Amino acid sequence: MQRTLILLKPDCVERRLAGTVLSRLEQKGFRIVAMKMLSVTETLARQHYAEHLEKSFFPQLQAYITSNPVIALVLEGREVVATVRKMVGATNGIHAEPGTIRGDFAVSGQRNLVHASDSEASAQREIAIFFQPEELVEWKNPHDALYLAPHERDNLSH
Ligand code: PPS
Repeated sequence: MQRTLILLKPDCVERRLAGTVLSRLEQKGFRIVAMKMLSVTETLARQHYAEHLEKSFFPQLQAYITSNPVIALVLEGREVVATVRKMVGATNGIHAEPGTIRGDFAVSGQRNLVHASDSEASAQREIAIFFQPEELVEWKNPHDALYLAPHERDNLSH
């Protein structure tokens, strides 16, 4: 089953929007398999945002993501990587479509509430940065029967 890494960033926590954002992701029908609050260190920020190290905005991005705690979580579900990216919306909240998380709650390209992995490869890399394998909880939700047709449930191709 596909998994993705989500970070509820410092502005999401500061604005007390963590529950609201989490509700949207849960209500869509995805399964939480890991979640924790942590302070991102400068080292962790460099690891997570490795592809942006040379970008001009990296110093501001690092200062922001280390400024206050984040809530990291792993979501599991069918096509969860691409679907969560759509739910989160465009990077800059000003340009994000209404109905998306950033479109409804953000007006900034930095203070944009949420990080979500952009591909399956990124998800695997990012999950391994934030979680130990034993922190990922394997479980089945009996309520999946309400969300999926029998042929769409576990153990099928995703
Ligand atoms: S790029 O250059 O297109 O790859 O960058 P982008 O995908 O737009 O953004 C990558 C992440 O960097 C954050 N970002 C910024 N942070 C601080 N200041 C500025 N100016 C800035 N521009 C982009 C952006 O929110 C993305 O964070 P994540 O957590 O990956 O969504």
